[in-house]
Amino acid sequence: MPSIAITHINTLVTNDPSLGSGPLGRIRDAALVVEDDRVAWIGASSRAPATDSHIDAAGRSVIPGFVDSHAHLLFAGDRTAEFHARMSGRPYEAGGIATTVAATRAATDAELARRLAHFRHEMARQGTTTVETKSGYGLTVEDEARALRIAVRQLTEVTFLGAHIVPPEYRDDPAAYVDLVTGPMLDACAPHARWIDVFCERGAFDAEQARAVLLAGRARGLGLRVHANQLGPGPGVALAVELGARSADHCTHLTDADVAALADGTTVATLLPGCEFSTRAPYPDARRLLDAGVVVALATDCNPGSSFTSSMPFCLAVAVREMGMTPDEALWSSTAGGAAALDRTDIGRLAPGTRADLALLAAPDPVHLAYRPGVPLVSAVWQDGTRVA
Ligand code: NIG
Ligand code: FE
Repeated sequence: MPSIAITHINTLVTNDPSLGSGPLGRIRDAALVVEDDRVAWIGASSRAPATDSHIDAAGRSVIPGFVDSHAHLLFAGDRTAEFHARMSGRPYEAGGIATTVAATRAATDAELARRLAHFRHEMARQGTTTVETKSGYGLTVEDEARALRIAVRQLTEVTFLGAHIVPPEYRDDPAAYVDLVTGPMLDACAPHARWIDVFCERGAFDAEQARAVLLAGRARGLGLRVHANQLGPGPGVALAVELGARSADHCTHLTDADVAALADGTTVATLLPGCEFSTRAPYPDARRLLDAGVVVALATDCNPGSSFTSSMPFCLAVAVREMGMTPDEALWSSTAGGAAALDRTDIGRLAPGTRADLALLAAPDPVHLAYRPGVPLVSAVWQDGTRVA
């Protein structure tokens, strides 16, 4: 592939403090060179080496592509009416998931693949270059395995979420469903996934069931993630930290002991403000977590029920406004934080040798992502060195 230089970048965010100033490693009047799928060079614009082609950023800014470390994009059906009713006063309940399960089981493989590609493109246009996605709307051996087979053709970060809810046909025997998830379903799904996740919440899976699911996944070589403490206080975060899960997601209702456990452990706290926005729930307290020294990621949780946004800039802006994050913290959490939640060092920052995943913003500094909420500032996006938007 021909090499490309992007020059006259007013602000380049590297997320590498050794390359620039502050925790974001900001460089003013910078240039960046892409060769093949990697960043080859970063430095002062005046010193940019000769390349095959050249883009003049003309005072705009460049950031690492957003890393959306939590999404549910393998689904069919429509829940507009549920959202409409909720915004007219009805509370969010996990039971809505069953509606999407029925529609997803009825969909063809081609339909699921087409929708996934559609969301990937929608996300790329908003600066997202890596997205994790989960199964969890099939909930039979065949439907979960086919969702994951479809996902691995398009994505690297694929998560088995057979333990999303107990499906209606197992309502009277949840223990049998946990046996299915940890047995034949895991056998069929593990080869297609990198991660296993469980919805540990009242109305979904309790601590004992969640532990069984996570330990079975670990025994098959999968990394651990947990939907934890979303709808109320509960055992999910403590379990995630105890088992060394890579990420505990939602973290909306935390006790002091949960925060202390996260601070002492290795688990990233992934906050999903689209969910609180779309369910009119109180936002998680990012400030409390950051002040305690917890590593925080931001992600969309894009799904048809609790958070139907695919926009990382939207989540970042809400996190700044509502969750006590500074604009720099929210940008870090949306890029490097997401990479940490996925245990990746090749994405979420820009330095020689990292993947050339980056977004050019029509703004002199990425602070504008929060300063100008709702404005489409992403003007170009490269993923693995290829222009995707
Ligand atoms: O992350 N918490 C569980 N799962 C999703 C909701 C999915 C749905 O409502 O369809 C979530 O919010
Ligand atoms: Fe989720």
